[in-house]
Amino acid sequence: MNLYPKEEKIKPFRLVKYFTFSSLILIFVGTIALSFFNTYGARTMQQKKSEEYARLLIENLNHQVFLQFIIPVALKFGKIQLREKEQFEIMDKVVRSTLHSFKVDMVTIYDMTNTISYSFDQETIGKKGIGGKGYQDAVSGKSTSTLLQRGNWLEIFLGFPKDSRLVTIAPLRAEKPLSVISGPVLGVVEIVQNLSKDYKTIFDFQVRVILTSTVVMGMLFFVLLLVVKRGEAIIEKRALERLRLKEQLNRAEHLSSLGEMVAVISHEVRNPLGIIRSSAELLNKKMANYDPNNSIPSIIIEESARLNTIITDFLEFAKPRSPQVAECRIENVLEKNITFLESQIDEEGYGIENHYQNDLPTVKADSDMLYQAFLNILINAMQAMPDGGKINIEVHSANNAVTICFEDEGTGIPEEHMGKIWDPFFSTKEKGTGLGLGIVKNIIESHGGTVQIANRTDCGARVTIELPVEYGV
Ligand SMILES: Nc1ncnc2c1ncn2[C@@H]1O[C@H](COP(=O)(O)OP(=O)(O)O)[C@@H](O)[C@H]1O
Ligand SMILES: [Mg+2]
Repeated sequence: MNLYPKEEKIKPFRLVKYFTFSSLILIFVGTIALSFFNTYGARTMQQKKSEEYARLLIENLNHQVFLQFIIPVALKFGKIQLREKEQFEIMDKVVRSTLHSFKVDMVTIYDMTNTISYSFDQETIGKKGIGGKGYQDAVSGKSTSTLLQRGNWLEIFLGFPKDSRLVTIAPLRAEKPLSVISGPVLGVVEIVQNLSKDYKTIFDFQVRVILTSTVVMGMLFFVLLLVVKRGEAIIEKRALERLRLKEQLNRAEHLSSLGEMVAVISHEVRNPLGIIRSSAELLNKKMANYDPNNSIPSIIIEESARLNTIITDFLEFAKPRSPQVAECRIENVLEKNITFLESQIDEEGYGIENHYQNDLPTVKADSDMLYQAFLNILINAMQAMPDGGKINIEVHSANNAVTICFEDEGTGIPEEHMGKIWDPFFSTKEKGTGLGLGIVKNIIESHGGTVQIANRTDCGARVTIELPVEYGV
């Protein structure tokens, strides 16, 4: 019988586990969302700053170009013509010295006919009409900044393409001395800043944040799992113990009511059984005279004797009496057992070898009950050796206890039966009641002792009983 079916396994932490698991997922998703949000904010801020920076640069550039290029060139040459090498070099010097050490990738200056008159990239100089809408806005006095990004779809989706450039286009104005720039538009300046590196830094930082929180959450979850596993194991163990205790209680209750019933029934059965037996004995005697070969009466006698034994065993097991303690000697009890079994020992070829320690103490015990226990063990030993064999009995004493050891040379007990042999009604014998060992256990335990069965290394079984010397005083 399986006492603890699988589906009854107690999992009190299942809910906790699901809850933590889902909250961890929620925290994880939340962290990623927050991270996206943060990144977006940081990127927008970075872009705004870069735009402001670009405008300041352009303002400064406007100022320097006006003072160091337009005025001196107009005075010197009378006309501004950047295509002339000398003028171009002056302009290049002004631009480079102004932007020197600032982070700018490209500067382009358009004239009022949308023609590139100055650029870091010499190849584009002289090209016409590529200013676009930014140029038109700048001509009408408005500055604009545009973010240009290039990369694969995932990089664009995450907002971190390999190449991010901020293009700012602003008017280049004539300046009135000692005033803010407010003169007429003379041309258009376009500067390009590369933001890829800044964006990459923000992205890397966010990745580090996500990775760190994932690792921390993973560790947290692992620790929690361990705690839950431990808790579950403890609760499961307790529940199993409770179940086992309940089972024991049920069994005890069952046995005690069974005991009452058996006591009543055996009382009722024993009397007629006695009559059947004595009648059969009488019949046997009478029939001996004229039908000596008829074995029926002796079968009746044998079977009624067996029935009597079964009833006695039942009674003994189901309604054990408490021991009537008196001083007794284990050796004497054992000798009485051997005497009782003597005829069987001789007839069926058993040998009994006993070793009693010399100065064995007397024991406080119920000698009738011990006799019954030893008899059950000896009968089991003989039944385990149907073709005869040797039984060793050894008694010794130490530490206020007496140990009695019975060894036989029989079949031994198969491993798969070891857990069951103490169960009532478990028997491997055709005519066994399966109550013998249960009775032994009841008797020995009611004396405060212990009983164990083990297989011997070579052959047969060993029953070891330990009885306290002073129990029941
Ligand atoms: N000395 C032994 N050697 C081998 N098996 C044993 C021995 N003692 C007990 N057993 C096993 O334990 C079972 C239970 O024994 P017991 O309770 O005395 O009942 P029964 O003798 O009526 O079968 C036996 O059927 C047998 O299988
Ligand atoms: Mg038996």
